[in-house]
Amino acid sequence: MDFSYNISASYQDNFDRGPQLGAVPELPSTDSFEFLGQQVSSPLGIAAGLLPNAKWISGYAARGWDLLTYKTVRSIKRECYPVPNWVFVDADTGDGPVYATQDFPEDLSQISSAVCFGMPSMDPSFWREDISRAKNSLIEGQRLIVSVVASPETDWSAAQVAEDYAKCAAWAAEAGADVVEANYSCPNVCSAEGQVYMDMELTDTVTKAVRSAIGQTRLLLKVGVFPDADLQSSFLRVVAGVADGITLVNGISREVLHRDGRPVFGEDYVRAGVLGRIIHEPCVVAVREAKAAINAEGLNLALAAVGGVSSVSDYQDFIDAGADAVLCGSSPMYLPDLAAKIKASL
Ligand SMILES: Cc1cc2nc3c(=O)[nH]c(=O)nc-3n(C[C@H](O)[C@H](O)[C@H](O)COP(=O)(O)O)c2cc1C
Repeated sequence: MDFSYNISASYQDNFDRGPQLGAVPELPSTDSFEFLGQQVSSPLGIAAGLLPNAKWISGYAARGWDLLTYKTVRSIKRECYPVPNWVFVDADTGDGPVYATQDFPEDLSQISSAVCFGMPSMDPSFWREDISRAKNSLIEGQRLIVSVVASPETDWSAAQVAEDYAKCAAWAAEAGADVVEANYSCPNVCSAEGQVYMDMELTDTVTKAVRSAIGQTRLLLKVGVFPDADLQSSFLRVVAGVADGITLVNGISREVLHRDGRPVFGEDYVRAGVLGRIIHEPCVVAVREAKAAINAEGLNLALAAVGGVSSVSDYQDFIDAGADAVLCGSSPMYLPDLAAKIKASL
């Protein structure tokens, strides 16, 4: 079956050839919604990942996705890990290994997958211009979120990490981002930028630096699952009043293996981010808990929910859990018209 991203090809091939998408479906009209104080045609969008450049952004914007996240960029060019970067997996809902498979269920909304890209980035001289192209391709009621991350050396201080995040954030805002998303979590990188949200001092330093670099531009922080409620509450208290909201969650880290036990992404990345159907339930729980913690402390933070949305009822689960917006990571690759379907139900 043809999907918009060819998982057998390299990241660069997919980047260059743009999304493979068919005819645009009829798009239902919707009421206007508000997200982060901005009017949007729907609180529905695509999370950081599938959209690495303006061609991909405009392809999906034309299919009715209204919150479009430009895949995470860095202050330096960074190559992608070698293929495979994305595999379909068979999995249970526990926390043991998941297994790569060539088959996928007939009902595509049941797909689970795993990714390991290493957060590649084009040089800023490319993406600073390309973000403006992406922004110009949107219509009224659509918003561009740009995801940024630092690229720390092992000996960098917290201040240096913060400065690198802030530099990318300022460039993204200057290029036309309606919202900057600082990525504080990546299950597939081992350096400091993969785990910022687990370190409260680093979170505090980076968030304040990014805020002062982008002025009034809206700021989201992308996090992973918190290991306990206390850490989550500490995080929310530290960032409230500085950031405008939280995007949760990133892929959930599990071992990704072939049936014979070999790691799919190589010995250095035995664990990687798992996405889609099998993470939906834990992500709904995470969003519900985050909402309860925000309400309990009266914090002013919006929630953009991510994790396994591939049907109208998955979308509704997140809205019921208290999400202000719902973002799909992997499903728009195999269900590019899901936005039209969900919007018809709004
Ligand atoms: C192809 C692909 C690449 C991704 N790259 C990034 C990334 O660069 N930055 C990021 O914050 N998340 C990245 N993600 C994670 C998604 O934003 C999202 O958190 C994850 O896919 C879980 O959502 P899902 O279950 O709807 O797929 C990526 C996901 C996919 C499918």
